[in-house]
Amino acid sequence: MKNIVLIGFMGVGKGTIARELSRQSSLVAVDTDDLIESLENKKVREIFEESGEKHFRELEKKIALWLEKSVKDTIVSTGGGFYKQKNIKKIGKVVYLRSSFDAILKRIFEHPNAEKKIAKRPLLQDLKKAKKLYKERVKEYKKVCDLTIDVENKTPKAIAKEILEKIG
Ligand code: S3P
Repeated sequence: MKNIVLIGFMGVGKGTIARELSRQSSLVAVDTDDLIESLENKKVREIFEESGEKHFRELEKKIALWLEKSVKDTIVSTGGGFYKQKNIKKIGKVVYLRSSFDAILKRIFEHPNAEKKIAKRPLLQDLKKAKKLYKERVKEYKKVCDLTIDVENKTPKAIAKEILEKIG
């Protein structure tokens, strides 16, 4: 089996679904933001603040190349901008988790740890800008993915099951 790469907008639940996929398939799950944080020994927010978004994107590229070369039979959840990596399709089957912007905001704001979830995401500080980014990216996610899964009003368990069934 090849890797499964989850893409989609910030807060859509990529990490949660990766963990559920891992539970249902017994494959290990890794997250590109976690890999970047351990590479730099800094939080994503600190990397953006101290070195800028451009540097963060370079780290994503480094991780994308490493994943392509070194990782198999793995669930990979990604940061919302990781879809831009040119080799993404070489890493594995790309699954786009689709949700409306409003449902994403609801999911984040209703979370018991909402403040933390927002604070750790530099590109979610200004909601107007975030909505603009969402609109721009939706088309790109669709273009790059092998499979789109609608996640609104579904449990992580049902979403993971659907992904595994569709990927085969
Ligand atoms: C980003 C999304 C974040 C993180 C970084 C940039 C983006 O990940 O990689 O803040 O460009 O959309 P999540 O999608 O897990 O929030």
